[in-house]
Amino acid sequence: MNYDKKTIRDIDVSGKKILLRCDFNVPHDKATGVIHDDTRIVSTLPTIRYLLEHNAAVILLSHMGRPHGQWKQEMSLFSARDHLEKLLGISIPLTKDVLGPDTKEKCAALQPGQAVLVENLRFRIEEEKNDPAFAQELASLADIFVFDAFGAAHRAHASTEGVSHYLPSVAGLLVEKELNFMGKALDDPKRPLVAILGGSKVSDKIGVINSLLQKADTILIGGGMSYTFQAARGKQIGASLLDEAHVDYAREMMEKAEKLGVKLLLPQDNIAAKEFSADARPIPVTPDNFPDELMGMDIGPKTIEAFSAAIQGAGTVIWNGPMGVFEFPAFAKGTNAIAEAMARQTEAVTIVGGGDSASAVEQSGMAGKFSHISTGGGAALEFLEGLVLPGIACLADL
Ligand code: 3PG
Repeated sequence: MNYDKKTIRDIDVSGKKILLRCDFNVPHDKATGVIHDDTRIVSTLPTIRYLLEHNAAVILLSHMGRPHGQWKQEMSLFSARDHLEKLLGISIPLTKDVLGPDTKEKCAALQPGQAVLVENLRFRIEEEKNDPAFAQELASLADIFVFDAFGAAHRAHASTEGVSHYLPSVAGLLVEKELNFMGKALDDPKRPLVAILGGSKVSDKIGVINSLLQKADTILIGGGMSYTFQAARGKQIGASLLDEAHVDYAREMMEKAEKLGVKLLLPQDNIAAKEFSADARPIPVTPDNFPDELMGMDIGPKTIEAFSAAIQGAGTVIWNGPMGVFEFPAFAKGTNAIAEAMARQTEAVTIVGGGDSASAVEQSGMAGKFSHISTGGGAALEFLEGLVLPGIACLADL
C-alpha cells in the first residue's frame, strides 16, 4: 500500500465544504455519556482547526459502537459533540437525523469557519453496507472528502471508502502522522527494529508475527500468547493460557525466525498465580519450573531486564499488546516496565501500535514521551500485518 497520500495541505480548502470522517468511537459511560478516554477526539483537533482556520466549512462524520442500522440513543454522538465544543470553544450543532432533512438543512446552511456533526452514521444500515446511493448522497453534501479516521481505516464503509468515488479525497493530519510513523517504521526503519508483541491470543496476531518476521531485527514476545510459544518449544506453562490450535504455527514461526536471522526472545521467567484475580498472590516461576496449578500472569524480572536491554539498543521500537494482566496492579509490572523502557530508557523512535498497549500507556501518564501512539485498534493491527486499508487506499496519491 502506498503511504504517500495527498493531505489537506496539498489542496485549496478555502470556501469549500469538507466531509471530514473522524473516529469519535471513544470509550464512554452508556448512561451518562462521560468519556473515559478522549485520545481519538483530541488527535483529530489539528485537522479540524486547520480546516476552520483556512476558511472551510466542516461537516464532521463518525460512527460510535455497532448499532447495525438501529437508532440507539446510548450510541449517540452527543457526548463527543459536547466534548468537541469544549475543546474547540465553538458551537457545533449535532444533526437530529442521519442524512435526513435536518442533516441536509444544517449542511446547506453551513458557512466557512463553521462546523456541524452528523449523528452516528451506523444508525443507517447503508453505512456498513457501503451502499453506493447512500455514499453518493453523503458526498453531495460537500466538495471534498477528508479522511482522518485512522481507527476505522480497515472498514470499507460508505463514509470511509464509498464517498471517495464521488469526491476528491485526501488525508487529514492524523492519518498523515499515522502513515509517517507506522509506514516508515515498517518500510524504512532506523535499525535495529525491535517489535514487542503481547496480548492473549496467538490467533489474533498470526498475520502480524508473519509480517514482522520479514521486517524486524528482534521480536520480543510476552503476554498470554507467549505460553503457546513456550509449549511449542517443550517448556512448562502450568495452567497458563494455551492456544492449542496454534502450537504448530508458533513452532513454524520460531523456525522461520531462525532461518531469517531474526532474534525472537521469549520470557525467561514469569509471575504466576493460583487464580485469575486481582488479589491473587504473585508467585515467581520459570519455563523450567512452572507448577501445574499456576497460571502465568506477567513477565518476570529477568525478562524485564532482557526486554529493556533490547529496547535500549533499538533504533525503532513498535509495541502491540500487553505483557500480562495489566488491569490487575499486582500483575502490571511487566507492561509498565516496557512502557517505562520505551518512554525513558531509549533514544529510539517509539511507536505503540494501538489497542490495549495504547490504553496502558495512556494510563501510565507517559504518553507524551512516545514518538507515536496509534489511534487504531483493529486498523493498527491490519496495518502492521501489511494489509491494504480501504480508507487509506482510496485517498489520492501524492
Ligand atoms: C475501533 O474502535 O477499532 C474503530 O472505531 C472501528 O470500530 P469497529 O471495529 O466497530 O468497526
